[in-house]
Amino acid sequence: MSYKFKRVLLKLSGEALAGEKGFGIDFNICKRIAKEIKELKDNGLEVGIVVGGGNIWRGRAGRGMDRTTADHMGMLATCINSLALQDSLEECGVITRVLSALEIKQIAEPYIRRKAVRHLEKGRAVIFSSGTGNPFFSTDTAAALRAAEIEAEVILLAKKVDGIYDKDPMKNYDAKKYDRLNYIDILNKNLQVMDSTATSLCMDNNIPIIVFNLDVEGNILKAVKGDEIGTFVNK
Ligand code: GTP
Repeated sequence: MSYKFKRVLLKLSGEALAGEKGFGIDFNICKRIAKEIKELKDNGLEVGIVVGGGNIWRGRAGRGMDRTTADHMGMLATCINSLALQDSLEECGVITRVLSALEIKQIAEPYIRRKAVRHLEKGRAVIFSSGTGNPFFSTDTAAALRAAEIEAEVILLAKKVDGIYDKDPMKNYDAKKYDRLNYIDILNKNLQVMDSTATSLCMDNNIPIIVFNLDVEGNILKAVKGDEIGTFVNK
């Protein structure tokens, strides 16, 4: 099988791990995702992963709480998800290292770019936890940043919908899906697929993004094979 990419950055939302429940971690889902990641590894791909935390903590959510505190809680939520995913990956035989942008060294290795790259070269899956380690930045921005740092060739942006639409397809039956988009279109049209910081970082560093539906089994592999699924974003 020929692949279009060699080193990829998979971005999973926290909600993806929650499955139907919408909250917490569904280990059946974790296992399913882990098996799909294993397929990538078995085919020689290097895989970095950034996972969000929305299944555990959704930020300030109407409480008007201090933004920095809320974001710190979100970073800790990503750590919980990262450890759950590591467990599922190792259960199916994928050697995995969790690196953390926050210093929590009893739980995870500190994030060091050269160490991350070495892990990838040695065939380990690498999960980047704690976002960027800074408040005011999303985990999508963490994905863009890590992708740039490790020189990933693409960001695989796993969603609950099958691509980018002109309006929310969950609420608008006439929403139109885009097969291809430029970064600047996302910014100009204010499409709610990634926040503008993450989109700009991808644009400035020329990192393509594939947005696809994670709920369809086998889609991660299809995305890296270059099959026409979801929406492809580049310059
Ligand atoms: P190499 O240097 O390529 O051999 O990588 P390695 O990760 O196998 O070696 P290392 O001895 O650094 O790590 C062994 C195990 O300890 C791995 O599971 C690491 O994730 C873990 N580990 C390494 N450093 C830390 C740390 O600072 N904190 C925690 N919690 N675990 C760590």
